[in-house]
Amino acid sequence: MTQSLAEIDLDFVPLGRTGIQTSELQFGTWRFGRTTEEGTLEISEDRAHDLLDTYAEAGGRYIDTADVYGGGDSERWIGDWLADRDRERYTIASKLYWQIRDGDPNSRGTNRKNVRHRVDAVLDRLDTEYIDVLYIHRWDDETPTRELMKTLNGIVESGNVHYLGASTLRPNAWKVARANAIAEANGWEPFTVLQPRYNLVDREIEGDYLEFARQRNLAVCPWSPLGQGFLTGKYARDEDLPDESKAAESSRFRDSYLTDENFDVHDELEAVAEEVDASPAQVALAWHLHRDGISAPIVGARTVEQLTENLAAATIDLSPAQVDRLTAAKPGPYDTL
Ligand SMILES: NC(=O)c1ccc[n+]([C@@H]2O[C@H](COP(=O)([O-])OP(=O)(O)OC[C@H]3O[C@@H](n4cnc5c(N)ncnc54)[C@H](OP(=O)(O)O)[C@@H]3O)[C@@H](O)[C@H]2O)c1
Repeated sequence: MTQSLAEIDLDFVPLGRTGIQTSELQFGTWRFGRTTEEGTLEISEDRAHDLLDTYAEAGGRYIDTADVYGGGDSERWIGDWLADRDRERYTIASKLYWQIRDGDPNSRGTNRKNVRHRVDAVLDRLDTEYIDVLYIHRWDDETPTRELMKTLNGIVESGNVHYLGASTLRPNAWKVARANAIAEANGWEPFTVLQPRYNLVDREIEGDYLEFARQRNLAVCPWSPLGQGFLTGKYARDEDLPDESKAAESSRFRDSYLTDENFDVHDELEAVAEEVDASPAQVALAWHLHRDGISAPIVGARTVEQLTENLAAATIDLSPAQVDRLTAAKPGPYDTL
């Protein structure tokens, strides 16, 4: 099993039709500065900088953040780290949408007032002149799509943002298709990067969403590629969970991931991992790298050890038969029609 940073050299791959290239594994920073319900700081500033150093040492150049991560600390700490580096060598993606001020409904969503103000705040925290990719973190049904696309186009034209992205919890290809049709009819910038949840056990985007992205050559950068840790081999069927574990703490995680059906997928994952002398996490990430239509998954990690293990996924070769076995372990939404 490859575990040494020196053996990893991440490749660049196209970011859809944007014309720029992304590292084949992007680095996600949502736990930077995050405090758990018990008040524990998950990733401190020092650890965040160690993680960014590790990613950069492996050749990683694409960093994913959002304005709400760590209440802004994720962006701030990335900005501090970038200050000692060549900004131009890194691609930084951020997002906006979630309400940031209690009692102020206009501080939520993608209305023009909120978007313009929030972009300025992102630039300040990252201490940069431009954001490479700006995502809407979720779809805001209260803002007319035409207003949204016109506002976003203005921000691209101002030079503050290079490319636009749409991040989703549920597949919503038709909303993005409609928004892009409006943008293109007006000569405005469309969404070219998509960020859906996708992993071996969350397969909702297979079907229309992936087909739409493929047809329009939109980049697809999946979040939670390890099912928030489920696909790493650290959970077992019918196990008594320690009180402090994420699964014990969060019933949503337990109910959506720790199911018999998902453990069947996990069994296949462990079998393939053994065959290729890799860890389950590495094989779960390598599966993304072997999937048609996926640009680059966003790798999450709480420790440098986890990140080093995960980045080594780029060194793993799976045979077409192994990829097929993993894919078949849980049918996608259209496989049973
Ligand atoms: N657009 C959106 O709405 C959205 C939503 C979620 C995430 N994201 C982005 O996607 C990124 C990744 O998401 P995610 O954190 O959910 O990804 P993930 O890769 O599915 O899960 C990462 C978590 O799994 C555990 N883990 C990772 N590697 C491990 C290893 N080798 N061994 C054991 N445990 C390991 C760690 O948590 P523990 O050690 O605590 O188990 C880690 O924080 C985020 O940072 C963010 O940038 C976007």
